[in-house]
Amino acid sequence: MNNHQHQGKHVFVAGGSSGINLGIAKAFVLAGAHVAIASRSADRVAAAVSELMSVASEGVRVLGFSADVRDAEAIGKALADAHAVLGDIDVLVSGAAGNFVAPALGMSPNGFATVVDIDLKGTFNVMRQAHVYLRKPGASLISISASQSYTPTKYQAHVCAAKAGVDMLTRVLALEWGEQGIRINSIVPGPIGDTEGIRRLAPTPEAMQRMNDTVPLKRLGKLTDVSDMALFLCSAQASYVTGAVIPVDGGISLVGGRDLSAGLVGR
Ligand code: HXC
Ligand code: NAP
Repeated sequence: MNNHQHQGKHVFVAGGSSGINLGIAKAFVLAGAHVAIASRSADRVAAAVSELMSVASEGVRVLGFSADVRDAEAIGKALADAHAVLGDIDVLVSGAAGNFVAPALGMSPNGFATVVDIDLKGTFNVMRQAHVYLRKPGASLISISASQSYTPTKYQAHVCAAKAGVDMLTRVLALEWGEQGIRINSIVPGPIGDTEGIRRLAPTPEAMQRMNDTVPLKRLGKLTDVSDMALFLCSAQASYVTGAVIPVDGGISLVGGRDLSAGLVGR
């Protein structure tokens, strides 16, 4: 696939200061797109902007905003500010998320709500607030889901519920916004190595080995496994793909009964 086609595009990545989302931001910068990222911590945003600038070609713009996706007004302002500098948004990624490993009975109502607020309501806020700034026709939106969306997983009641909601939101928005030439798809990553998500689910070497062994392809994913799919979904080659929920997971969504008990630490 020709990644030069992304040159000069305007990309906004919510939750783009680390891990998988930063990997996607980096892939677009490397392809010559102008990229804005937003997350809560101004320090982490600044560090990520420096990292992205260090790989950017001359003329590529990288912007950073501090905003919490649970605050619709704040994320709306970040989108407005990015739009004021870059212009219409071609690519929008909603990837902010939170997770901890706990049984349902070990979750307070606020603990459950916090993850739903970040993952599901945050995705609604990002996409709803971005709509006015999207290129129409042509924008490509991506929700970052997780295999918990369709594999019921012990100690992940909040994430399973939230990500299932995210994938249904993807489908509904694809229906509602299709006639404006906006495409929306979900990427469903499996366990991706060297990320905060996997560190929380498999905090010991033994748990990491077990996770590795559970994946049918017998390896953890790489950041580029996910960013390659993001580049594809936003490419001309995917111009007839919308409302799709696409695993990039080494096949782990085919396997039930994962044991995450090693993640039950400190509570
Ligand atoms: C039980 C917990 C808990 C735990 C927090 N809570 N950790 N409950 N067990 N281990 C409860 C708190 O007690 C509180 O409820 C409520 O959750 C909110 O906690 P806060 O710390 O006040 O929330 P906040 O500061 O908003 O932080 C949100 C967070 C935090 C989700 C709790 O961990 C965070 O900011 N995470 C972002 C980074 C992250 O999680 N990255 C991984 C994404 S991976 P009470 O009732 O006490 O007020 C992912 C899927 C991965 O999403 C899939 C991999 C395969
Ligand atoms: P990560 O490094 O913790 O990334 C989460 C990002 O979201 C950070 O930039 C964080 O920055 C930001 N964020 C968190 N809460 C936010 C909020 N309320 N408002 C705005 N930004 C917020 O985690 P990751 O493991 O790479 O996961 C990234 C995405 O991939 C998530 O959607 C996750 O569910 C999904 N996923 C991950 C895996 C995996 O193996 N890691 C597997 C499946 C799915 P701040 O802290 O500065 O806000």
